[in-house]
Amino acid sequence: MENDRSALEQLIKEKLFSFKEGMDRKTSDLLFDSRTLKAIYELMGKLDIDYIDYPISTGKESGVFKAYVHGKPIAVKIYKMSTLKFGKIENYIRGDYRFAKEKLSRGNVVYVWAKKEFTNLVELRKAGVLCPVPIGFHRNILAMSYIGSKDMSAPILKDAEFEPEKVFKEVVGMMTKAYRKANIVHADLSEYNMLYYRKKVYFIDVGQSVNIKHPSSEIFLRRDIFNVCTFFRKFGVVSDPLEIYSTIVPA
Ligand SMILES: Nc1ncnc2c1ncn2[C@@H]1O[C@H](COP(=O)(O)OP(=O)(O)OP(=O)(O)O)[C@@H](O)[C@H]1O
Ligand SMILES: [Mg+2]
Repeated sequence: MENDRSALEQLIKEKLFSFKEGMDRKTSDLLFDSRTLKAIYELMGKLDIDYIDYPISTGKESGVFKAYVHGKPIAVKIYKMSTLKFGKIENYIRGDYRFAKEKLSRGNVVYVWAKKEFTNLVELRKAGVLCPVPIGFHRNILAMSYIGSKDMSAPILKDAEFEPEKVFKEVVGMMTKAYRKANIVHADLSEYNMLYYRKKVYFIDVGQSVNIKHPSSEIFLRRDIFNVCTFFRKFGVVSDPLEIYSTIVPA
């Protein structure tokens, strides 16, 4: 593996991966820019990653890859430098006192974002909320435990088969724990950002999750509740979002 790493480093050094300014945007759908490739290489050394395997998911703003550390799978989420919208994510960082000291610029906002997702995973795990175990972060890359079996990553809740009543209660329980124990609101919760694995729900995609003191945390929580109730209603689960809100937020 050492050879692979030095080969990659050599290519980066020789600037074979360095695109001219402006090209990054055009190529961003297909490739990572040179800074990201360098960061991947550095993270591989830092975490002793053997190799990066196939992409589990490729989205507009990030790609999630399966990777291996000493033969065990992990998940590596790489935020794309060029497509993450500054204005959109700035609001989720600015109002959160935990990141008040971070200087934000177009160049570093994506780094703060990866760090924020890492921090949220740490705090959610500490509170006992099921989500990936954070392993590390470096620049725009986050490493976490892989959720899934050997040959298939866990499905998102939208594509899973589950017992509606039971899982609905579980999700509300997790939102309550996140709120009361971790003081965190997910802020983008839906059937797309929960995985279902071995009959348990996992929260994922927590970059935008905010501390409850964030000025918009109440709006975010109400929106999360609305999404969850709407999804489970399709399976016959009757619920009242206002009532759910008052079970989550202590009076
Ligand atoms: N720890 C993990 N283990 C297994 N699969 C994962 C893990 N984290 C993410 N995934 C997979 O990657 C997909 C995308 O992850 P996530 O929701 O965190 O990114 P995203 O920001 O929504 O990406 P996009 O740019 O597509 O919006 C998930 O739907 C899931 O299938
Ligand atoms: Mg997502």
